[in-house]
Amino acid sequence: MSAHTFDFDVVEIDDLMRNDDLLAKAKSLTLPNYFSGMNVLLRYWEEHRDRHIDAKAIFLMERNTWISWFGKVEKKIVGWCLITHEDDQKSFHPRDGHVGFQVFVNPDYRGKGYGTALLNKAKEVFAGYTLDVYGEDRLKREKFFGKHMRAGYVKDLTSGEF
Ligand SMILES: CC(C)(COP(=O)(O)OP(=O)(O)OC[C@H]1O[C@@H](n2cnc3c(N)ncnc32)[C@H](O)[C@@H]1OP(=O)(O)O)[C@@H](O)C(=O)NCCC(=O)NCCS
Repeated sequence: MSAHTFDFDVVEIDDLMRNDDLLAKAKSLTLPNYFSGMNVLLRYWEEHRDRHIDAKAIFLMERNTWISWFGKVEKKIVGWCLITHEDDQKSFHPRDGHVGFQVFVNPDYRGKGYGTALLNKAKEVFAGYTLDVYGEDRLKREKFFGKHMRAGYVKDLTSGEF
């Protein structure tokens, strides 16, 4: 007998930097590009482990619970997002009422609403903040971020308004 459920884990970046296993998994779930926003930021934070980092990660985990003799529980990361109050080493700079937001969904799980679920969870955890995103890709900006931008709590860092 098996059951799949989904949980959010909200993790302080200070704790992520001390958890080598979770950090390696997070790094594997980024665009395969040395200069991707999430990779740049994770590398930067690894160099600053000695100080408090004002940022969080939210992981969306699939919990596969096999109810057996052993009661084995497995967790798989479906996707995750980084939310920073700090400079993201690219175009987000600290600004009252704003946080930088970047998201990645495991390619096997895309198109099923998980990216939107992460965006909505970030909106809940950072209620009252505007989420500043990278919307360079016009199709993605409209289809993925569009309705959230129109609702007013997502702003595009590449729009030239900043
Ligand atoms: C962008 C991303 C997070 C979307 O995750 P997802 O779980 O597939 O998104 P959802 O299923 O919630 O999709 C919501 C809507 O956005 C659209 N969408 C999702 N990814 C898209 C993309 N790359 N291009 C255009 N539209 C996209 C979906 O078709 C859907 O539209 P619909 O509501 O009209 O059906 C995912 O494709 C990803 O991780 N991409 C690589 C990293 C990235 O580009 N991150 C965003 C910038 S930080």
